Amino acid sequence: MYIFKAGVVGAGTMGGEIAQVITYAGLPVVMKDIDQEMLDAGMEQIRSIYQARVDKGKMGAGDMESKLDLVTTTLSYDAFADVDIVIEAVPEKMAIKKQVFRELEEACPEQTIFASNTSALSISEMGAATDKPHKVIGMHFFNPAHVMKLVEVIPGLDTGRETQDDVVMFAETLRKIPVVVQECPGFLVNRLLMPYLNEATLALEEGAATATEIDTAVVDWGMPMGPFTLMDMLGIDVCADVGEYLYSEYGERMRPARLFEKLLGAGRLGEKTGVGFYDHPGGESEDVHQMIKDLQAAGEVATGTPFTVERLMYPLINEAAQCVLENVATMTDIDMAMVAGTGMTYGGERVGPLVVADQIGLDQVAETLKELEADFGPRFRPARPLRLRVRAGHLGVKTGKGFYEHT
Ligand code: 3HC
Repeated sequence: MYIFKAGVVGAGTMGGEIAQVITYAGLPVVMKDIDQEMLDAGMEQIRSIYQARVDKGKMGAGDMESKLDLVTTTLSYDAFADVDIVIEAVPEKMAIKKQVFRELEEACPEQTIFASNTSALSISEMGAATDKPHKVIGMHFFNPAHVMKLVEVIPGLDTGRETQDDVVMFAETLRKIPVVVQECPGFLVNRLLMPYLNEATLALEEGAATATEIDTAVVDWGMPMGPFTLMDMLGIDVCADVGEYLYSEYGERMRPARLFEKLLGAGRLGEKTGVGFYDHPGGESEDVHQMIKDLQAAGEVATGTPFTVERLMYPLINEAAQCVLENVATMTDIDMAMVAGTGMTYGGERVGPLVVADQIGLDQVAETLKELEADFGPRFRPARPLRLRVRAGHLGVKTGKGFYEHT
């Protein structure tokens, strides 16, 4: 099925960005919210993304206006009678998402695909709340959506193959790189990214290093931005929600750092509130330093733990290995998703975590994880695909075989 017109429900940051991406590909989009102010802000966001392109000389002002004309904003579902796909980007609460899909069933034709931009929640569960689970699918964009190339396509248990193929084709029409990911909490990229972001926060609250030191070390390692800069961009509330959900699903190894509660309690939600891990502008925050001192003084967190960049990056590699075991995606898709979704590089090349592990040496990665396990506990236990390959002498580039074959 070719998609001629799309709907977006929720005009927040991601809803606005997704609507912009759709219009950039030349397709009309209806953007709905329950709040006129949100709609206005969403429209303003779309305009500002185009305006930046105009200012950089990448687009003419006339082109910008014709792209903006492709957006219809609305408070009702009236304009949804002829949409081929709807992408919901409402708050990350299962009950709200189910409610939206039920409302959409009333408003949209039978063949309309219902896609969710959820960061982590179950697509199968959303599908089961509708009368057409074969038409329900995950379509997960990455922030900033107008820049990041990846779209995770997540079929639920009852999603039809045709729906999956249509959404893959639609993502390509949007000039994105679709990667099909089997449903699991956090899907692929957030499942790898969140333990790394959490570990950075644990290191921070334990006084292992400052936010600036950690960010700098990670950028030197090859990520385009450090974990605290990234979390401030994504929103501390978004990261905390995803983190709590992953903890509820995967258990102890994903227990969230305590500092998240403190930041949330103080309304430090990141760039959008002007304050998060950092002050924007300003950088390192005395208030956050005080929160860390309070957590340490109350004995709520460990203190004096060491910081190494491996402490952050190896859990990400380890989770990628676990995803290989669980067939969450193919190895090349795991690597491509991390490059296209997070801008990951290593040694100056755009490569994902499994390639990185092969380059470092799987024996070295596994050995360091074991040392971290001895220091910090079982969250660092090397995943089976890693242990298996080390035992078989598949150590990566140096032996010609690791996750990949190297000639
Ligand atoms: N917020 C929004 N947009 C931003 C931004 C920010 N903090 N920082 C930069 N951008 C935009 C710029 O406006 C610019 O857009 P334009 O081309 O339309 O003008 C574009 O990004 C490129 O900016 P720069 O030229 O300054 O390029 P940089 O080299 O600094 O790259 C970046 C910026 C692309 C954001 C890069 O730092 C990056 O790739 N960071 C990693 C982002 C990431 O990991 N995203 C995924 C997070 S996980 C997720 O979203 C899942 C969700 O479910 C939680």
